[in-house]
Amino acid sequence: MQNTPIGIIGGSGLYQIEGLSERQEHDLITPFGQPSDRFVSGKLAGVPVVFLARHGQTHHLLPSEVPYRANIYAFKKLGVKHLFSFSAVGSLSEDIAPLDMVIPDQYIDMTRQRINTFFGQGTVAHVSLADPICANLAQVLANAAEGCLTQQGRNLHVGGTYLCIEGPQFSTRAESHWFRSLGANIIGMTNMPEARLAREAQMAYVSLGMVTDYDAWHPREQAVTADYAIKNLMKNSENAQQILMGLLAGLQDQRPDSLAHTALQQGLVTPLSSMN
Ligand code: ADE
Repeated sequence: MQNTPIGIIGGSGLYQIEGLSERQEHDLITPFGQPSDRFVSGKLAGVPVVFLARHGQTHHLLPSEVPYRANIYAFKKLGVKHLFSFSAVGSLSEDIAPLDMVIPDQYIDMTRQRINTFFGQGTVAHVSLADPICANLAQVLANAAEGCLTQQGRNLHVGGTYLCIEGPQFSTRAESHWFRSLGANIIGMTNMPEARLAREAQMAYVSLGMVTDYDAWHPREQAVTADYAIKNLMKNSENAQQILMGLLAGLQDQRPDSLAHTALQQGLVTPLSSMN
């Protein structure tokens, strides 16, 4: 467990990572098709890492087109047990402002057309998703993000509910108000089924939501447009690079253990012997 590579999924605005040594590219094909793009591996701050741009390095995949199963499967094949996911999000809460960051600890899944499991076709499993985020990874991420954001007068929010929509359109005002009434704090288009699949693959998962807008509910702020979101996305991505360095420094000599690593011990219904 000590030297396993750390997996990093870059979202909108984070298409590559800078400063990698021993850089290699991996063109993988999986039983679930091709991943979003080539994986890039190397060392950053002395830590082995594997990076993937979720929408592809040229941002050619819609959230619904991201091959989530292929991506998670390939991370697993590359030896990753700890996965950090970065993504742009909108705020559904008054106290979460654009350019703040959020480490959600819960999800509401409103996606409609994504395959969300590795199982089926003879193999049955029901893993627990009660706590979808690895608390140990969240702590490492929070330490790194806090340091970076406080220098800039921005806030880090630890905990909160991420609601995932299918997209690609942003929400209507009515939906935006409804999602707030459900108790969601941020909204995005990609963390589901990513978090589910990471759990099925027994990988520790945490995500950092980088806030670009107030979605469509706020009485005094403009409703989100792609132009508006992209401006803030570029500012957030500089912070993301810095946070990445900070969190890898926190992982230099140890990889935290996670309940996710044994998710199938309680979740597998079909006997393991039938999977060989
Ligand atoms: N990503 C960034 N802002 C968003 C929003 N308002 N809704 C969904 N995804 C987003």
